[in-house]
Amino acid sequence: MKMKVYVTRRIPEIGLKILREYCEVIYRDELAPPTRKELLDNIKDVDAIYCTLNERIDREVIDSSPRLKVVGTMSVGVDHIDIDYATSKGVYIVYTPGVLTETTADLAFALILSTARRVVETDRIIREGKWKLAWAPTMMLGYEVYGKTLGIIGLGRIGAAVARRAKGFRMKILYYDKIRREDLERELEIEFREIDDLLRESDFISIHVPLTNETRHLIGERELRLMKPTAILVNTSRGPVVDEKALVKALREGWIAGAGLDVFEEEPLPPTSPLIEMPNTVLTPHIGSATYDTRNRMAQYAAEGIIKVLKGEEPENLYNREVVKIRPLTKLID
Ligand code: GLV
Repeated sequence: MKMKVYVTRRIPEIGLKILREYCEVIYRDELAPPTRKELLDNIKDVDAIYCTLNERIDREVIDSSPRLKVVGTMSVGVDHIDIDYATSKGVYIVYTPGVLTETTADLAFALILSTARRVVETDRIIREGKWKLAWAPTMMLGYEVYGKTLGIIGLGRIGAAVARRAKGFRMKILYYDKIRREDLERELEIEFREIDDLLRESDFISIHVPLTNETRHLIGERELRLMKPTAILVNTSRGPVVDEKALVKALREGWIAGAGLDVFEEEPLPPTSPLIEMPNTVLTPHIGSATYDTRNRMAQYAAEGIIKVLKGEEPENLYNREVVKIRPLTKLID
């Protein structure tokens, strides 16, 4: 019997091609994610779900899919999946680490530069016909990046890739992580700081932690008040890592100078968000991994992970390795 895979929404062709070679694919060829009902209705008899970060794969979804063996998510973040429950039910979770590292680090750096140098704000000034004076010594001043101090919160793959970029800007680099990375400290010539010290000392703070119970609102009012009034906060990880209400207050009241944000507590960002009206924010719509090459790699990697599990092989992009003890790998396709 052919294994059945439900693909929740439109993905790059390369991912589909891999899945179709081995499985029956129920392809929901739509840009938007499925409604909850649509998702629940379509997974009743599938062996695999290919999803994105916008579909919540929780207890109810897993329980509605009694044949489910593997979930492949086209994302490096897995906060939309109830990992513990999936593992307890023997459901393998594959994801896309590694293939979007450099692309996301590029965006973090783009946000650092564009927020510091007011690139978006001044572009808007020209487009709105408000560029009246050719040049003025005190006009449109921003903050220097070269030689300043960068604080990286979360020194995983992406955090380290941001550090490598910052070295080219001769920045002093500090990091905080719950795991001390002495290998990277030596390689990248960066220094560990407890989080409060990092917040106090940095000119730029870039967040690269996964969203977990521990990291939700990691940056709140107390932390924002520790930052320099000239500091810029950049977040390309997950919105809820920052308490957005507190951030709005910090930006309004000048506790910090600006924020470059690719992720938000609610996505899409509601048009009523005060962040939209602020000149000292640069906002992008969760595009950290959004390049043609990277999205193709992600589509491929998630599909390959699903196929490997169904072939009875352990994929390198398996997130919940303990699952192997709950439901040992078995060959279901050739
Ligand atoms: C994007 O946010 C991802 O987790 O891949």
